[in-house]
Amino acid sequence: MTTEHYLSDHKDRFLEELLEILRIPSISADPAYKSDVLRCADAVADSLRKAGAQKVQVISTPGYPVVYGERIVDPSLPTVLVYGHYDVQPPDPIDLWTSPPFDPVIRKTDIHPEGAIFARGACDDKGQMFMHVKALEMMVETGEQPLNLKFIVEGEEEVGSDHLDDFLSDHRELLTADLVLVSDTGIIANDTPSITTGLRGLSYVEVKVTGPNRDLHSGLYGGAAPNPINVLCEMIASMKDDQQRITIPGFYDKVVELSVEERAAMAEAPFSEEEYKASIGIGGCEGEPDYTPPERMSIRPTLDVNGVWGGYMGEGAKTVIASEAYAKISMRLVPDQDPDEITALFKSHFESIAPESCKVEVTIMHGAHPAVTPVDHPGYRAAAAAMEQTFGRVPVPFRGGGSIPIVTSFERILGLKTVLMGFGLDSDAIHSPDEHYGLFNYFKGIETIPLFHEHFARLHGA
Ligand code: BES
Ligand code: MN
Ligand code: MN
Repeated sequence: MTTEHYLSDHKDRFLEELLEILRIPSISADPAYKSDVLRCADAVADSLRKAGAQKVQVISTPGYPVVYGERIVDPSLPTVLVYGHYDVQPPDPIDLWTSPPFDPVIRKTDIHPEGAIFARGACDDKGQMFMHVKALEMMVETGEQPLNLKFIVEGEEEVGSDHLDDFLSDHRELLTADLVLVSDTGIIANDTPSITTGLRGLSYVEVKVTGPNRDLHSGLYGGAAPNPINVLCEMIASMKDDQQRITIPGFYDKVVELSVEERAAMAEAPFSEEEYKASIGIGGCEGEPDYTPPERMSIRPTLDVNGVWGGYMGEGAKTVIASEAYAKISMRLVPDQDPDEITALFKSHFESIAPESCKVEVTIMHGAHPAVTPVDHPGYRAAAAAMEQTFGRVPVPFRGGGSIPIVTSFERILGLKTVLMGFGLDSDAIHSPDEHYGLFNYFKGIETIPLFHEHFARLHGA
């Protein structure tokens, strides 16, 4: 039987099994869900075993465990290491979900007329990770596994993959391979396949501004007592100039400018500013005027406040000058910015612009290096050939705006290149309420993966 027939015979079960995994609230950021995260690791391990993987283990780390499995068919053939994550983002704000985040349902949307699975993790990354598990089952059952496969599925991606570098260093032998394959990114549209060739890095900090030693009556003290919330807002506002450039000294020093040719190639990818604005309900784009919106979202760095709090946030009005104000700030980085350097630049700048009236503290949360993946590599060519077969169109290379911290570690620690063959859409609302993943995309991924392995087996070393 061909993998194609196997897929059409087992579609319903392939969907049911994914829904089972989606019912587990494996929220890595919230310690209250610890037992669910661990239960999810076991469920992934079981699914790998059932699919035919060997040596399946749940390997502990100082954080959440990594699930490992492999299926070696012939040591003389190339080996692909598949990476994914079983942890998910918190579902908050929960009130904005149309159906409960861990009770997956199928609904049709304009973009997914054949239906989409609505659940936290449906697209990021359980649905995409699980395509590889089902592709393995297909290859095993049809006797068509053209190379060796290894799997690592981690549980801390959404909180920065803090323990994965050590895991890679400690298991170098176990993880020997020729390439890493990841489905945790997206395509431009279901009729415009694309392959992600770059990811942004990340520097994430939390800041605290402290003013008076206690909350004060804003009438009695207001006017002379420094207000840390006002101060924090002014400090944040000053970090971009009127050209939307980030004002931290040295911030752009290592930013690589793309050539005219590279920018022209990027501009080939279809983008409609009108559709973009309509899709997220905004009146206009912001950002550096010399760059197009897609460039601002991929090859340019950012500074964004992710959360800000302090003072009275309850019902009604309370006249108060708070003692403290807080913000969480992320900076997306591009080659060759270094997250540790940028974090240090942020810290010293933030401290230097603090007024004498207040005290500031910067806490470093986590970082990720920006990544570029090669297009002149058998792995890229294998992905392009496989997607061309299943989508009927040659995929376009595309730089993504998100981050996957471990991608540069694969290269640095294991010496491996990564191919980012993802199948999600930007409109799938990852990290947002009503996250979903198209049935088209789920099954297209399962169909494409075995073809990727076939092409890579052929192209590797050729
Ligand atoms: N899968 C995403 C990253 C992604 C999504 C890249 C779509 C490109 C296209 C990943 O799970 C993610 O959310 N990463 C975090 C990293 C952080 C928590 C360290 C991110 O980008 O915010
Ligand atoms: Mn992800
Ligand atoms: Mn994510």
